[in-house]
Amino acid sequence: MHAVLHYLKANQPRFIRELCELLRFPSISAQPQYKRDLRACAVWLTQHCRQIGLKAELCPTPGHPVVLARTPRRAGRRPHFLVYGHYDVQPPEPFELWESPPFEPTIRGRTLIARGSADNKGQHFAHLKAVEAYFKTGTALPCDLTFVLEGEEEVGSRNLPPFLRARRRELRCDAVVVSDTGMPAKNLPALTYALRGIVALELTLRGPARDLHSGLFGGSVENPAMALCQLLAKLRDARGRVTVPGFYDDVEPLTALERKQFKRLPGTEESYRRFLGVPELFGEAGFSSHERTTARPTFEINGLTSGYQGEGGKTIVPAWARAKITLRLVPGQRPGKIIKATVAWLKQLCPPTVRMEIGDCHGSMPYLVEPTGAHARAALRALQAAFHREPVLLREGGSIPIVNDFKKTLGVDTLLLGLALPDANAHSPNEKFDLDCFAAGQRMSALLWPELVKTA
Ligand code: BES
Ligand code: ZN
Repeated sequence: MHAVLHYLKANQPRFIRELCELLRFPSISAQPQYKRDLRACAVWLTQHCRQIGLKAELCPTPGHPVVLARTPRRAGRRPHFLVYGHYDVQPPEPFELWESPPFEPTIRGRTLIARGSADNKGQHFAHLKAVEAYFKTGTALPCDLTFVLEGEEEVGSRNLPPFLRARRRELRCDAVVVSDTGMPAKNLPALTYALRGIVALELTLRGPARDLHSGLFGGSVENPAMALCQLLAKLRDARGRVTVPGFYDDVEPLTALERKQFKRLPGTEESYRRFLGVPELFGEAGFSSHERTTARPTFEINGLTSGYQGEGGKTIVPAWARAKITLRLVPGQRPGKIIKATVAWLKQLCPPTVRMEIGDCHGSMPYLVEPTGAHARAALRALQAAFHREPVLLREGGSIPIVNDFKKTLGVDTLLLGLALPDANAHSPNEKFDLDCFAAGQRMSALLWPELVKTA
C-alpha cells in the first residue's frame, strides 16, 4: 500500500493534466447537438481505461454510450465491486457568468474550474487513478472492480436500467461505490446514506395559433404566460408546502434522533443565508434549511419560457408558455404516484382558455440505507485514513437515479463517498473541484478496496 500511496503522491501534476483533458469535452447530455462530443468523451475514457490497464469496452445504448471497464479477472471468485460515475454534464449556461470558459479548465490555487469538474468527472477520475496506482506499482488489488461510466445521469439515466438488466450476470457484485455527492468541508469527509428522489416534467400552455399583436388582440384571449404564472403560483402555498393533493401522504417523518444529529453539522442558518446571497431564507414552515433540503419533499420551477426574450420590447400575446419543473421526493414517496397526482392537479387547475401539454416526464425513487452495515463501516475507515478526520454521516438533497436500480437489478447497496465541497457550484456557473479533495479521493479509493475485502 505504501507504494500505491507514494505513486499517487508523485503523479498529481500528470493526473491533473489528464483530468483537464477529460474536462475539455462539452459532454452536455441535455442538448442534442452535443451527441458527438459525448461519444468523443466516452471514447477518450475508454482509451484512458485501457492505458491504465483496465479491459474497457464502449457500449452503445439508444442514448449516449456507457463505458464499461474492468480489472483483468483472475481465477477463482473474488469480491467484486462496481464503481459508478457519469461523464455527462449539466448545460453551462449562462455563459456570461463564467469567469473562465466552462470547457477550458482553469486552475486557481488549489481549485480546478470547469463544467463537470466536481459533477462528476473529477470524482470518478479519482477512482480510476487509484486503480492505475495499483497496476503501475505491481500491487495486487484484493478484489475485482468494474467501472460503469454513463453519459445520461443528468437527464435521468433512462437507458442504464435496461443495460444493467442485460448485463446483470457480469455486473453481479458485492456493492457499488459512487463518488458523486458532497462533503461538508475540506477536511471533513462524509458517507451519504440518503438521497432524494425526483419527478421531472415539462409543462406547456398553448393559446393563440401564433404570437399576436398585443394592442390589437390583447384583452380578447388568455395570455398563456399569465395563465402559466397563475397556475404555477397555485402549486405552493405561503407556508412553503406543495399543494398537490396527497403529496405528503407517504412522507416518512424525521426521527427525533436524526433531527438531533442534523443539529451537529457545521454552519448556521445565517452563514447559509450569506453563502447563498439571499435577503432571507424560505422553505417549508417548521423545518431547518438542512431538513428542508435533504429530508423534506419540494417543488421547484427550473426554467420558465414564453414570449420575446431578445433585447428591447416586442408587444405580443405569446402563443405559448412553458415551465420545466421538478419535485424532489423523500423516503416513502413513489415517483409513479406523485406524477399521477401532479398531472391530475395540473389538469384540474388549468383554465379552459389554454391547451395543456405535459412532456419529458421522468422520475426516480428516493434512497436511504442505514449506514450501519459492514460495508459502510469499511468505507468509514477508508475515509478516516485518507482524510485523517472522523467522517460524518449525511443525508443529501440531490438525486442519483440509478442507485435504486443497482438495488433492484443487482441486489446491492451503494456507498456514496462524495468529494465535492459545498461551494463546488455544481449545476451553476464556475463549477469547481478542489485538488486536495481530488488527491484525498484517490487515497480513499486506494484504501477502500482492502477495507471492503476484510468484510467478505
Ligand atoms: N451529483 C449529482 C447528485 C448529487 C449532488 C447528490 C450532490 C447529492 C449531493 C447528480 O449529478 C445530479 O445532479 N443528479 C440530478 C439527477 C436528475 C437530473 C434526474 C439531480 O439531482 O438534479
Ligand atoms: Zn449533477
